[in-house]
Amino acid sequence: MRSLIVSLVSIFCLLCVSACEQVEQRQGAIHLPEGDANKGAEHFVSLGCVNCHQVVGAELPDPVNAGPVRVLLGSKTGRAMSYNTLVTSIVNPSHKLSTRYSKDKVSQAGQSLMTSYNDVLTVTQLTDLVAFLQAHYVKAERPGYKYPVYSYKSDSESESDEP
Ligand code: HEC
Repeated sequence: MRSLIVSLVSIFCLLCVSACEQVEQRQGAIHLPEGDANKGAEHFVSLGCVNCHQVVGAELPDPVNAGPVRVLLGSKTGRAMSYNTLVTSIVNPSHKLSTRYSKDKVSQAGQSLMTSYNDVLTVTQLTDLVAFLQAHYVKAERPGYKYPVYSYKSDSESESDEP
């Protein structure tokens, strides 16, 4: 009986250790299916993102219910926004606040003023939104300057841009 308990306990410990290893392995890049940018633009309006955001180069209707700030998304300067950063800023906005504004304008007690969509947004909507937004982060043409290449398909590249 005693040896049975000992072996059960050791099996349990082994399972715990392997579970921990799995958690570590899962911390690489996430590979989401490709989104539809046109649908993303529609979700951007229907989900009310447009109430708090303007997107560089996108023709969007005026907000029906204007939010506390109008945060600009998309750019023509600087580097392109990586896929990982965009997904993170939608599903976990407080993880890293937009660097375009002072913190007191876009957050309160360290928490982003952005609405949480995690209980209403489908994965398809998320990937569509990211496809739409990513197309509006255009790298500025600066001859001679080599921009880092971002791709959500490559683990090593996306890891170097942890948000
Ligand atoms: C109530 C207002 C509000 C709504 C609604 C809202 N956001 Fe935001 N969003 C913010 C604010 C404020 C920030 C800046 C602080 C931060 O980075 O979280 C932000 C930041 C972001 C950023 C990161 C910008 C950067 O430069 O880092 C993205 C991307 C974004 N929002 C996408 C969306 C999408 C997509 C939706 C709709 C599904 C949405 N937001 C809805 C207020 C809002």
